[in-house]
Amino acid sequence: SAPLRLGIAGLGTVGIGVVKIVQKHVDLLAARSGRPIAITAVSARDRMKNRDADLSAITWVDDPMALAVRDDVDVYVELIGGDAGIAKDSIEAALRAGKDVVTANKALLAVHGQELASLAESLGRVIRFEAAVAGGIPVIKTMTESLAGNGITRVMGVMNGTCNYILTRMESAGLPYDTVFEEARQLGYLEADPTLDVGGIDASHKLAILSAIAFGTKVDFDGVEIEGIERVSIDDIRRAHDMGYKIKLLGVAQMTARGLEQRMSPCLVPAESPLGQLHGGTNMVVIEGDSVGQIVLRGAGAGEGPTASAVMSDIVEIARGVRLPVFGQPADGLKNAQPARTAVP
Ligand code: NDP
Ligand code: HSE
Repeated sequence: SAPLRLGIAGLGTVGIGVVKIVQKHVDLLAARSGRPIAITAVSARDRMKNRDADLSAITWVDDPMALAVRDDVDVYVELIGGDAGIAKDSIEAALRAGKDVVTANKALLAVHGQELASLAESLGRVIRFEAAVAGGIPVIKTMTESLAGNGITRVMGVMNGTCNYILTRMESAGLPYDTVFEEARQLGYLEADPTLDVGGIDASHKLAILSAIAFGTKVDFDGVEIEGIERVSIDDIRRAHDMGYKIKLLGVAQMTARGLEQRMSPCLVPAESPLGQLHGGTNMVVIEGDSVGQIVLRGAGAGEGPTASAVMSDIVEIARGVRLPVFGQPADGLKNAQPARTAVP
């Protein structure tokens, strides 16, 4: 059967990871997809950069807007980043040109996800974003597919590896926040704007996306109550330790009588619990379903391989012909539920 042809915009950490997987697993991907998967065109800013992947047989396109609408592209894979601008414009152009879209862009989806999903649906296209939440952990597909028979009652977890690294390092090395923050910067862990990490914003982007899927509500990033880790002191961590607890930047989303509650804040968790045992840059997502009970997913929330792995799962799903929207699947009895922010005067 005809190959599924990809146009990849963004050849950084994640984009190159996707190129490598497509090139390495040609037969495996074809078998799992029922058709070959091929990259026909790519785009990034600097054509001359050494990319650690063989791009010689792939068409280079300078402008992602042009890539998004090419006739030889079936799926536009947006891996540029940014909550607006070229990422959003090119996704819209791709959808309007009849392409399906895969993205890892949590910042964009937290703000414009609803609008983009509606646009896709109105055009009979799909937009997929497994990699946008907790990197390599297949949390979206777990909720929409594996837990399809469950009303989701609560979703929570540690969804920013940088914050988890900082908090665990402060405890294990007995170092103050500022010193470990600087270490994280040197190690290249921080986003270009570190406030996104330590201010809890990146994790809240992910929580807002997840809770919309879990509860069938609209993506409501503004409705997340956010407190970052900037004010967590080494004394706080020591006191928590003495009481048998760890401090984690924990996101919790649950439906209450007042509507959807979404919180991202430093929380005490029992040291011996799965969350308490989560070290370094790892992520953990806990999902509670009304039939299954509690599911705990743990793994790498960032990095080339893990994030590209999640992007590939979306590409394979599209190749298989799965066309259901991810947002907008109503949860039982919650179809018209509104976030607490709007439900409470
Ligand atoms: P990088 O910064 O490593 O790569 C971004 C790529 O986009 C680069 O190749 C860059 O080109 C290209 N680019 C930037 N601006 C333009 C433009 N105007 N036109 C064309 N190309 C452009 O980002 P990542 O790979 O880390 O992240 C990509 C996406 O994945 C983001 O949305 C991010 O939030 C998300 N994500 C990333 C994770 C990670 O672990 N890195 C984890 C989960 C999600 P050039 O190389 O020439 O500079
Ligand atoms: N800055 C993010 C983190 C990258 O530390 O988890 C992955 O989304």
